[in-house]
Amino acid sequence: MRLAVFASGGGTNLQAILDACRTGDLPADVVACISNTSAAGALDRAQAHGVPSAVLPPADFDTPSAFGDALLDTLDQHRVDFVALAGYMLKVPKSVVAAYRHRMLNIHPSLLPAFGGKGMYGRHVHEAVLAHGAHWSGATVHLVTDEYDQGPIVLQEPVPVYADDTPSSLAERIQPVEHTLYPEALRLFAEDRVRIDGRTVRIDDYAPHRSSH
Ligand code: GRF
Repeated sequence: MRLAVFASGGGTNLQAILDACRTGDLPADVVACISNTSAAGALDRAQAHGVPSAVLPPADFDTPSAFGDALLDTLDQHRVDFVALAGYMLKVPKSVVAAYRHRMLNIHPSLLPAFGGKGMYGRHVHEAVLAHGAHWSGATVHLVTDEYDQGPIVLQEPVPVYADDTPSSLAERIQPVEHTLYPEALRLFAEDRVRIDGRTVRIDDYAPHRSSH
């Protein structure tokens, strides 16, 4: 599987994916890293692994559709067949979502559909979980559709919320779960074990991994 990772931030999920490819746990090659900003730490991680990167800020394009075309051209150039969004802070243009239908995943740091949607990213998610008094949060890997965080769920893993948690402590508990869950979800696609039936994702011969927290 020729994988592109879209990232805007530090890139710890990109790193987990690169590591899983290197060890063979994920039978895929990261062939491109795409960012909207040259400030993304993910770009350094890509470079350290010899992965080509492209910085495509939407402001560089006259129209949203030109931005979508540039993303699609870049994906074509690298013959990408699957896309993983890993802390990509922009909505992916409709044309790209359509071209990669059922071939594009995102990871979100809560148990969707709770605490997802527009504006729910990074620290905001954990703040909302704590403000709501939820006892559980977690991580969700889902297919990307045109609506934020609404696509069919591929894998989820719960993480407990403790009474003395802060947004940072909760984020720190969830992050390592993301780092195993995302490569695992990608592996299921790489091994062609995923069937999508409306909103339901069925996985052939799957015994869920369970981590202990
Ligand atoms: C992760 O928490 C992910 O769930 C969310 O953005 C964050 C990206 O972190 N979509 P990193 O850049 O991979 O470290």
